[in-house]
Amino acid sequence: MSTAASVDTPATQDDRDLALYAERIDRPPQLKTAEFSREGRLRHVIFGGQYSVDVLEDLAGTADKIRLLSKSRDGQDFLLRLLAHKRAMLYFTQPSTRTFLSFMAACQILGVTCNEVRDPTTSSETKGETRFDSIRMFSSYFDLVIMRSPVARLAEACAYLMNDLERSGNRSVPIINAGSGADEHPTQALLDIYTLQRTFQFVSPKDSPAATKLDKLRDEYPDLNTGLAGKTYGFCGDIGRGRTVRSLASLLSLYEGVSLVFVAPDHPTLRMGDDLRQRLDRRGVRYVEVESLESPINGVPAIETLDALYMTRIQKEHNAAADDAEFAAIDFANFKLTAELARRMKRYAPILHPFPRDQHFGEIPPEIDNDPRAMYFRQARNGMWVRAALLAHVFNVDHRVARCYHEHYGDWLAGGQA
Ligand code: CP
Repeated sequence: MSTAASVDTPATQDDRDLALYAERIDRPPQLKTAEFSREGRLRHVIFGGQYSVDVLEDLAGTADKIRLLSKSRDGQDFLLRLLAHKRAMLYFTQPSTRTFLSFMAACQILGVTCNEVRDPTTSSETKGETRFDSIRMFSSYFDLVIMRSPVARLAEACAYLMNDLERSGNRSVPIINAGSGADEHPTQALLDIYTLQRTFQFVSPKDSPAATKLDKLRDEYPDLNTGLAGKTYGFCGDIGRGRTVRSLASLLSLYEGVSLVFVAPDHPTLRMGDDLRQRLDRRGVRYVEVESLESPINGVPAIETLDALYMTRIQKEHNAAADDAEFAAIDFANFKLTAELARRMKRYAPILHPFPRDQHFGEIPPEIDNDPRAMYFRQARNGMWVRAALLAHVFNVDHRVARCYHEHYGDWLAGGQA
């Protein structure tokens, strides 16, 4: 993917600032991850490739503990004191409901004080201040910057800015990317993985409604196992512009033996981009690209092969001038889930969507909401718990969560109730 940082003739100071980081941004992800970590834990959270399976398991474990502690008054009081000495800036200059509010709620659960800039016309950016000056100002007043921006790679550049400030002895704070342009949405991938982890434990009737009894399911699906490995994941809709698809598909490729099915129109804007294709090829992941949920894969319609389905919205707000005319020739009915298609899915297969869904396009009609496999509202709530876990990880208090959890629930755990 070309980056905004690669522009040939930067026009504004913002562009020139971003261009300063272009060389570092354009390196392969594996060369960058160390710079975003401190002492074995994430410091800046910029792209999905930073998470290892161990980190994902750790974060899920902390999220589970936080959600259980939150059920008691004592647990809530403990959590509220955990980060009461920290302040976070939520700098969201692109619209958001779930990410903004779930980060806000996660901060509130852990006692972090929040402030926000959502509309840059209310900040001194209207007087010509650059985004980089704004970020540096936020780092003067706050202990963490959580940012969403329409500018691809801006969060990454800000993480380098913070590292450079630290090296020169200046104040520096962690940066969390809450969605940057069309490139990455690493905390969405975190909650998607967390939702799949809980679903495929086949334990809780809320997370795995049709499937709390794995033994029973195995009568029908003899190869079914717990966990994310070895399963087939479908992605349907706007694969080309879906930053959540890019982040989640990359994370799923960490698990042994997964297969991915991408269902998108055969159009350069909408089908999988070369960057994701290359990433999957490098990791040796099996994937197929088809043009309908009905397309056969080894003779079986795609919809019937999936262990999980991730629907996405067609992001028409990003259409280029030629797109509207070219898209008119596409049969978009192939990229909508219907009750009839859902009926043919595996009994345990969760239906996910990062949301928002598009009421006009109708990629998931509301009549599917009552299907016990429809996980998207639960998925959004999971975002609050796992984002709280991420904050606990970044500020190195997750071990205190674990200790409190064991103090509260030790006897219960010892009785084999966990
Ligand atoms: N899934 C997601 O990022 O939603 P918002 O745009 O509402 O934050």
